[in-house]
Amino acid sequence: MTQFTADRLLLFGATGDLARRKLLPSLCALDADDLLPHDLRIIATARSELDDASYRAMARAALEEHLAHDRRTTIERFLDRLTYQPLDATTLKGFTDLAAKVGTPANGLAIFLSTAPSLFGPTIAGLEHAGLTGERARIGLEKPLGNDLASSCAINDAVASAFPEERIFRIDHYLGKETVQNLLALRFANILFEPIWNSNYISHVQITVAETVGLEGRVGFYDDAGALRDMVQNHMLQLLSLVAMEPPTSFDATAVRDEKVKVLRALRPAQASETVTGQYRAGAITGAAVPGYDEELGKESATETFVAIKAHLDNWRWKGVPFYLRTGKRLPERVTEILVQFAAVPHSIFNARPTAQAPAMQPNHLLIGIQPEENITLSLMAKVPGLDEAGLALREVPLAIAMPDAFSETHRRIAYERLLLDLVKGDQTLFVRRDEVEAQWHWIDAIRAQWEQQALTPKSYTAGSWGPSAAIALAERDGVSWHE
Ligand code: BG6
Repeated sequence: MTQFTADRLLLFGATGDLARRKLLPSLCALDADDLLPHDLRIIATARSELDDASYRAMARAALEEHLAHDRRTTIERFLDRLTYQPLDATTLKGFTDLAAKVGTPANGLAIFLSTAPSLFGPTIAGLEHAGLTGERARIGLEKPLGNDLASSCAINDAVASAFPEERIFRIDHYLGKETVQNLLALRFANILFEPIWNSNYISHVQITVAETVGLEGRVGFYDDAGALRDMVQNHMLQLLSLVAMEPPTSFDATAVRDEKVKVLRALRPAQASETVTGQYRAGAITGAAVPGYDEELGKESATETFVAIKAHLDNWRWKGVPFYLRTGKRLPERVTEILVQFAAVPHSIFNARPTAQAPAMQPNHLLIGIQPEENITLSLMAKVPGLDEAGLALREVPLAIAMPDAFSETHRRIAYERLLLDLVKGDQTLFVRRDEVEAQWHWIDAIRAQWEQQALTPKSYTAGSWGPSAAIALAERDGVSWHE
């Protein structure tokens, strides 16, 4: 495999929402920390008829809106790196001019596609036509990469016709989040957890990705996708695979992804009865009234904005351990967290009667907060101070690490900073390999097929609640409460 650090970055979809909110701010922030190669030039392209100056003005406005104040020190230098070429990606015509604008990189070219998936095929054809797909070019792809296994395979085939897998970088921006990477550090840089990280000591795992936002104007896209495809197929299954994977032999792209894909292939096809879907109705989020999904959309729809699933992994380590997944829009708070619930002690030597100050003995749990707070909390039982004439009183106490406090000298980074830097440098560890994507779709398609077969439609939930009551029942019939 040819290793190179790119000195040209070609950005498709450069006027889009993702570019303005995340990509440009991330690149500028990397520049502020002197992390971009000094000779990196960024060629932006999209359909709009802009020139270099007007694109830079648009980029400046985006940075002023979306980049943290303390990271705006080098905006001018960053803007100087940018040039712009208008392009209609549906025809081959403009690609020769685009190639001229890119010029001849000294080291290599990194391409980033953040466009509608329908443009992926024509864009790849155009890149090939213009000679931009050679050995010293790699390509990053932003989701959605299809909306089922078949369409994802079609996209992957089109990309594979021009780029080998080791030069394809599929983004799942959750892998760029600090705390998600920290999950690997927690599991594999400490001796403490791994010996008990299995069905002998863990009774279940919960993964929650709750959002307060609604449609956010993404009317067409979201209504065709729904929560299962928008969030579970990618981000949640990636989180699940990091929690459940075997220790890789090293932190390198092949070793890590080999282990993740084994987990994804071990997912047991979920029964419809182990899934709950919901769609929000008008309600209130932190005191402010918000409309229902169909009102935001302007029509009735059967798309789910909430999904909860009880998932199982058919392998030795996780035999009999349910993984409860839930995600939804317009939930009461924005929170992404993983809860690992350990088993109860096999025999309690304490026999004090539970009281309000000292409730019954609770099994330990580990709570990994991913956002908005990045913290790790281990719940432990401790003795309540006192003379305990009625027997030793116990209470659950948290052993908590707030990551920002532990590393107060560092600043919080946007997930795309890590990923864009890895794309420029050519490290695939935090990108999703084709076999992972396909295993993900395989599991998701089977769920959707069952929903269709049984003509299931989402249940209503009030915006600002934790989803339909059936989601609570899904866990409660196993004696489990969702962590809130
Ligand atoms: C995107 C989804 O992939 O992730 C959005 O398409 C969702 O619907 C977003 O809002 C959530 O990302 P984050 O980083 O805000 O948790």
